[in-house]
Amino acid sequence: MYASFKSIGAYIPEKVLTNEELEKMVDTSDEWIIKRTGIKERHIADDSELTSDMGVKAGELAIKRAGLQKSDIDAVICATISPDHFCMPSTANLISHKLGLNPVTSFDISAACTGFIYALNIAKSFVESGSFKNVLIVGAEKLSSIVDYTDRTTCILFGDGAGAAVIGATDKKEDAVIDVHTGADGSYSDYLITPGGGSAEPCSLETIENRRHYMKMQGNATFKVAVKTLTKDVIDILGKNEIDPKDIKHFIPHQANYRIIKAVGDALKLDSEQVVLTVHKYGNTSSASIPMAMNDLYESGKLKNGELMLLDAFGGGLTWGSALIPFAGK
Ligand code: ACO
Repeated sequence: MYASFKSIGAYIPEKVLTNEELEKMVDTSDEWIIKRTGIKERHIADDSELTSDMGVKAGELAIKRAGLQKSDIDAVICATISPDHFCMPSTANLISHKLGLNPVTSFDISAACTGFIYALNIAKSFVESGSFKNVLIVGAEKLSSIVDYTDRTTCILFGDGAGAAVIGATDKKEDAVIDVHTGADGSYSDYLITPGGGSAEPCSLETIENRRHYMKMQGNATFKVAVKTLTKDVIDILGKNEIDPKDIKHFIPHQANYRIIKAVGDALKLDSEQVVLTVHKYGNTSSASIPMAMNDLYESGKLKNGELMLLDAFGGGLTWGSALIPFAGK
């Protein structure tokens, strides 16, 4: 049995936060943000809109587009660094409940911006081993809840949203996910970190006053590792599977920074039509960024059955991952 990528769905919250609005909140400029990141605006969830709510909306679309009933889903994996609740219950559990899927296996994983590729790798293994037939994978983030809007080095980067896909069993080899790579290096763990609120620094008045429960990033150091790691990872996966970069129809990288995406695309000598870009309108939505970009492509009619996609991500941990997938949706 093979695992196929059956469908894609996403949810983008309505409210838009522009660079001009950020200029009024911190010492920054539209010009600096565009030049350094390519980001023009990002979407922000309402106070009442939870990570799980966005995951539900993306998941509903993915199930419908896979031509399945909710009862066909056997497991839900949610990749998130902004879960509804700290520790428990898992956001995947809440998504399953709100979708009316119970009882199914559901759990969260934490691999920051690489989360969707980690979830894909786990779902692929579940399906190939015969444990489950259809797994819903979700990348959902309400990053606005862990972003410090007084810190100009991070608050200009992040946005909210969700994306989801169904990974299902097939006996058609041409539909099978070709390969997924995942990796991590904890020696860089302080490059991207939410220091407070965990067992290392349990929540206290002091951690809150010192804003320790917000994301902190060593941006420039992370940038350098990101370019190197992302490039090496895609060269490795293409080489291992003997695929020429020119045969990739859609390169869908994590949308953190236009300059990082351009550097990796240039290293592979990709044409601009091969590279999917949404960073200008959504910013960095961590685990949701790749499925949101893929959904944009799908909804614009540019993602067709059988077309080869190359995914590439990098994030806090540090973590990284890549995947080679023929789109098996309709
Ligand atoms: N507006 C204006 N100036 C700013 C801003 C801002 N918003 N932020 C920083 N600056 C200043 C800095 O203080 C610094 O000033 P100085 O030269 O006087 O010291 C200057 O701009 C340059 O700062 P750098 O940090 O060196 O800028 P850089 O070109 O590296 O861009 C950025 C910063 C956009 C964060 C970039 O480093 C980046 O994209 N890093 C990688 C992010 C990433 O991929 N993260 C992984 C995924 S995220 C996840 O997993 C959750």
